[in-house]
Amino acid sequence: MKIRIVSGSAATVAAAGVIVGVIKKDKKPTGPAAQIDRNIGGGISALMAGREFSAAAGRTVTLRPGRGRAKCVIVVGLGSGSIAEYARAAAAAGAAAGAAGLKSVCCALAATAGLKIDPAAAVRIAAQQCSGSDYRFKLGRRPGSAGIDSISLLLPGKSNARLNRAAATGAAIAAGSNLARHLAEQPPNVCTPDFLARCAQDLGRHPKVRTRVLKKASLEKLRMEGILAVGRGSANPPCLITVSYAGGRPTSAPVVLVGKGVTFDSGGISLKPGAAMDEMKFDMSGAAGVLGTLAAVARMRLPINVVAVVPSAENMPDGKSYRPGDVLKMYSGKSVEVLNTDAEGRMLLADALAYAEKRFKPAAIVDAATLTGACVVALGHHRSGMFARNDDLAEALVAAGEASADLCWRLPLDDEYDQLLSSSYADFAHIGGGRAAGTITAACFLGRFVKTRKWAHLDIAGSAWGKDKRATGRPVGLLATWLAAKARRLD
Ligand code: BES
Ligand code: MN
Ligand code: ZN
Repeated sequence: MKIRIVSGSAATVAAAGVIVGVIKKDKKPTGPAAQIDRNIGGGISALMAGREFSAAAGRTVTLRPGRGRAKCVIVVGLGSGSIAEYARAAAAAGAAAGAAGLKSVCCALAATAGLKIDPAAAVRIAAQQCSGSDYRFKLGRRPGSAGIDSISLLLPGKSNARLNRAAATGAAIAAGSNLARHLAEQPPNVCTPDFLARCAQDLGRHPKVRTRVLKKASLEKLRMEGILAVGRGSANPPCLITVSYAGGRPTSAPVVLVGKGVTFDSGGISLKPGAAMDEMKFDMSGAAGVLGTLAAVARMRLPINVVAVVPSAENMPDGKSYRPGDVLKMYSGKSVEVLNTDAEGRMLLADALAYAEKRFKPAAIVDAATLTGACVVALGHHRSGMFARNDDLAEALVAAGEASADLCWRLPLDDEYDQLLSSSYADFAHIGGGRAAGTITAACFLGRFVKTRKWAHLDIAGSAWGKDKRATGRPVGLLATWLAAKARRLD
């Protein structure tokens, strides 16, 4: 799919469909909506004068006017025109364009009169959300497309370097997030640890990207007992994938992103109940998210170094599986008492975090994981849980989430929670005993395997996919926007 930038009147852009927005308080169409309205003979004014259409954020109506240049006009409500409402509207309009089967679309949302958003951010979000709609599930390694060939973004005013870059940033983030959705939605018989490794290898087609895969034998040599134990019950062997993007100076420390890559989580010996167990194919959404982010960073050509680290395994019950009660010596040297084999994500991540820190001496390290059901209870599907020891890092992640409409909420890491991990048989236990503060004790466990204060953890158990059992592509928006800001390339 191609994304191009256009300016001038919405009515003169050559495209099969056009997306225009209306702000709730407006009684009549303004800006591009007014241009199209005149062009099609008043269909949008008639819509706004009627009672059926409210301009609440994300409400769409598809018109087939039979007059004017575009065959199809998608009118979307922008609510008050705030950034969150605008992003929701852009996503809904993009989905409507996909559903209408349009091959080419002009998105005029960023040119709406009366937006309360910086023009570059409006262009970036329009590009991110509208090109995000060109996704359709397809089995296999290559992502599918909804068949949209081109999106023309109508700029607010004349084209300039800042607006052009914002469009490119949004399109890169959309591509990364569509890759994440593609990987996350693959069924677990297709998406095994080997499959993830091959997809990571495919990223090597981007300039400056290199992939390395440590297979089971290497993990044994390195004594990554956390990853090995989780993978032991499965016929699909575990692995550790690293993908590096070298966009910065060779001497500058990379940002490392670690993603949980459990390709199917049956719970293992502590078997999960059968209902909705299919959802546990999404348990590699953290891996999908960091690989998607790396793809977005490479596309943006950010002048920084970034490494994605993915520990991957399948958690299955078997005669060889690890068990509740096992005491394991982890890669970091710490011993851990396993109390429930369904808390497998933290075992993988503990080894991957310790390895990443030792090997890459990162400037910052952020992990993303569908780690706990408790996080879904706490925050639902709206915000990811975020944990950090460093306030600047936490604030930067919150800001990136707001700027990309991929929100997170900071939760605490107090010592009082950390102490719940005590064990009589090992350095510590791997769960906090009982259900209290489950998302926090999981984060505290991870925290015991990183030395730097520049570490953050995102629990995306609720945000990576929705109740409709579709992947969301999160947290690619948040992470890629954070990295773009870090590289001073945001808006
Ligand atoms: N992958 C699950 C977490 C999960 C649950 C994600 C529901 C999305 C939806 C994780 O491996 C897990 O099973 N966690 C356990 C931890 C418990 C045994 C301490 C959980 O949340 O119940
Ligand atoms: Mn589990
Ligand atoms: Zn899991």
